[in-house]
Amino acid sequence: MLPEMDRRRSDMDRAPGFEIEVNGRPIRAFPGETLVATLVAAGILAFGRGPRGALRGPCCGMGACFGCLVNVEGLGRVQACLVRCRPHMKVRLEI
Ligand code: FES
Repeated sequence: MLPEMDRRRSDMDRAPGFEIEVNGRPIRAFPGETLVATLVAAGILAFGRGPRGALRGPCCGMGACFGCLVNVEGLGRVQACLVRCRPHMKVRLEI
């Protein structure tokens, strides 16, 4: 189950947003955001499970820890901190 929230500052001017789909649910994204920023802003902190079954999530935000691995339709398994959101992107978390 994905939480419904938005942790972004509400007092900033932004370009019009768009939706991406995460495990079948719509999530709001904005141009220029990385996928990890969009997911964390939506309150999603667990992106999958490690080899021993513990929840894992983003740690470094710069491509070093691999905690942010997700499946993106058309791209395969990618590091969410290195991919920018695009309209209609479909993401699958392995939770
Ligand atoms: S957050 Fe560490 S690789 Fe993406």
